[in-house]
Amino acid sequence: MELAGRTAVITGGASGIGLATAHRLAARGMNLVLGDVEAEALELAVTELRVAGAAVRGLVADVRHEGDVVALREAALAEFGGAHLVFNNAGVGGGPAVGSSTGVWDWVIDVNLRGVVHGVNAFVPHFVARGEGHVVNTASAAGLGGVPGMGAYCATKFAVVGLSESLFHELALRAPGVHVSVLCPGFVKTRIAESARNMPAELRAPAEDAFAAGAERIAREAVAAGIDAAEVADAVVRAVHEERFWILTHERLALRTTESRLEWMRGGPAPGFDLLSAARP
Ligand SMILES: NC(=O)c1ccc[n+]([C@@H]2O[C@H](COP(=O)([O-])OP(=O)(O)OC[C@H]3O[C@@H](n4cnc5c(N)ncnc54)[C@H](O)[C@@H]3O)[C@@H](O)[C@H]2O)c1
Repeated sequence: MELAGRTAVITGGASGIGLATAHRLAARGMNLVLGDVEAEALELAVTELRVAGAAVRGLVADVRHEGDVVALREAALAEFGGAHLVFNNAGVGGGPAVGSSTGVWDWVIDVNLRGVVHGVNAFVPHFVARGEGHVVNTASAAGLGGVPGMGAYCATKFAVVGLSESLFHELALRAPGVHVSVLCPGFVKTRIAESARNMPAELRAPAEDAFAAGAERIAREAVAAGIDAAEVADAVVRAVHEERFWILTHERLALRTTESRLEWMRGGPAPGFDLLSAARP
């Protein structure tokens, strides 16, 4: 897709991968609509982008609420005449498979899965009607293989991969000018390990058992050892430009994860775990 003069909408655009991608897309001449739940961080991001010369509109938008995501589409329409790319990027880290409360499960599902569903519902019919457009859904390498200590997160990221694959096949049949990509990074140096900053206050509590606390610590270390968000942003821009489905920023990890699952399905051994190695591309 030609990017210059077109408009991208990015959820969770005030930090990390979303913000880095906003900078890369602006440098390619795209107009931007950024949504985020963090009003202050959003204001800073918008100012930073305007100083860099971008045409950008920021809107406080919580992807858990469909109306907020529709408002992002309407802002793109009012400000720039429409949207061509939606990056369903907002996401939060979630708890272990054993011991996460229903409240934590709901929060992770609402942001990571329903948020993407809302983005698909708000934008794809608009793209289909126009015969062009591109959706990038953020999953994770944790959407390609289960990870200990991240049951809720993995469940939503597998779901995003499934949704994206189905969408790919559906679009190929009914709207070949509309494209979808799924982003599956390993660890990236962002604020994802501090996701609890956006958690409803009543759910915030330190991990209760040693396993959950250890898993949180290892995930924090792995994120700190991860690749730069700018590298992920470059991969997203390339995939949109080349209309590629899989965005595997940590290709070796993604392929090894998938191959070892296949071997496991064929009766081989279950995959072992070294989370820190997932920080390496
Ligand atoms: N950092 C990693 O290692 C990594 C790896 C794989 C996938 N991802 C995915 O990348 C995406 C971006 O995360 P990041 O790593 O840049 O983290 P980040 O915390 O730096 O950025 C996430 C942004 O989403 C926003 N957000 C949180 N809840 C929201 C909501 N309900 N509505 C709207 N915005 C909301 C946050 O305020 C923040 O600005 C997420 O979907 C995450 O799961 C991250």
